[in-house]
Amino acid sequence: MVMSTSISHAPAPRHRRSRARSALVLGMAGLLAAAGVTALSGTAEAASTLGAAAAEKGRYFGAAVAAQHLGESGYAATLNTEFNSSTPENEMKWDAVERTRNSFTFGAADQIVNHAQSRGMKVRGHTLVWHSQLPGWVGGLGAADLRSAMNNHINKVMQHYKGKIHSWDVVNEAFQDGNSGARRSSPFQDKLGDGFIEEAFRTARAADPAAKLCYNDYNTDGINAKSNAVYNLVRDFKARGVPIDCVGFQSHFNSASPVPGDYQANLKRFADLGVDVQITELDIEGSGTAQANNYSNVVKACLAVSRCTGITVWGVTDKYSWRASGTPLLFDGNYTKKPAYHAVLSALGGSG
Ligand code: G3I
Repeated sequence: MVMSTSISHAPAPRHRRSRARSALVLGMAGLLAAAGVTALSGTAEAASTLGAAAAEKGRYFGAAVAAQHLGESGYAATLNTEFNSSTPENEMKWDAVERTRNSFTFGAADQIVNHAQSRGMKVRGHTLVWHSQLPGWVGGLGAADLRSAMNNHINKVMQHYKGKIHSWDVVNEAFQDGNSGARRSSPFQDKLGDGFIEEAFRTARAADPAAKLCYNDYNTDGINAKSNAVYNLVRDFKARGVPIDCVGFQSHFNSASPVPGDYQANLKRFADLGVDVQITELDIEGSGTAQANNYSNVVKACLAVSRCTGITVWGVTDKYSWRASGTPLLFDGNYTKKPAYHAVLSALGGSG
């Protein structure tokens, strides 16, 4: 059939234009109905994965990833479908990448970074300077040697991943628990003194100027002596122009350490210092509705703080969690979505 079309460059009268528009709309609706497509009134279709729902809110939603599980189909499928950021759970730590002085091994960490990048996921770097998972040789160095080893470690690791990491945990867990607000004893603290954190951040900025540089800790999720100490450190850094871009709140919760009532207020006071805040290692022991409600509250707190740029849960499935018996994650051991998953998706504005 040949259709004849008359083209006029003059605008059609208003009534003809609106009739034509109505016909077009009706025609489209008919086509969609014929194709079995349900039109949603007014809004775009709600995102159906954690990553997509978070992206619609301008955030990322990530998971800690262990390289040894990437070959398991359920693990990889869940990671690839649901998350848009990955954090190597152990593979970038000092004992994994520089077990022997100045000899670097990036194989397992590269596996995670390549997996993430080839699927369009971001990567968080975890972690450069930490007292734990630190090879013995580091603790055996004298001060001058330790300073040079710390800076060399930061330089080599950050240069290897330059341009591939959105945020780095430059220093992890440098403060004591409890009410002292004091620094934790570590080879870095004990031999280099308080200035080691500043030195680490300055070295990190020079090594990869595009990466966001974070201080990361636990038990700093509410307002308390430990978070006050971190707050004072960040305020001092901002006042003196020491480079720092973000603070990571690990957010490992259980009944003895529940989600604090002032969680959102704490995120907000840090954000008000002029840094991003990120929820970096979220897991909440429990099950069912109680666990789901706790997860929902954490997500809502992040969404309520404009500088809360993303959330990472500390693993993909309960069965590989560092505290598996507490079933703290969003997917069970069979990769089935738990009530906590649905609560998070819904808090993010998505729909399953
Ligand atoms: O790599 C060795 C392996 O060679 C050995 O055969 C095996 C035998 O147990 O152990 C392996 O090391 C384990 C390592 O994970 C890698 O799987 C360690 O024993 C084990 O202690 C270590 O646990 C990690 C823990 O950090 C160590 O501190 C957890 O997987 C990891 O989830 C956890 O993550 C930390 C964050 O980095 C910082 N914040 C707290 C968080 C939870 O503890």
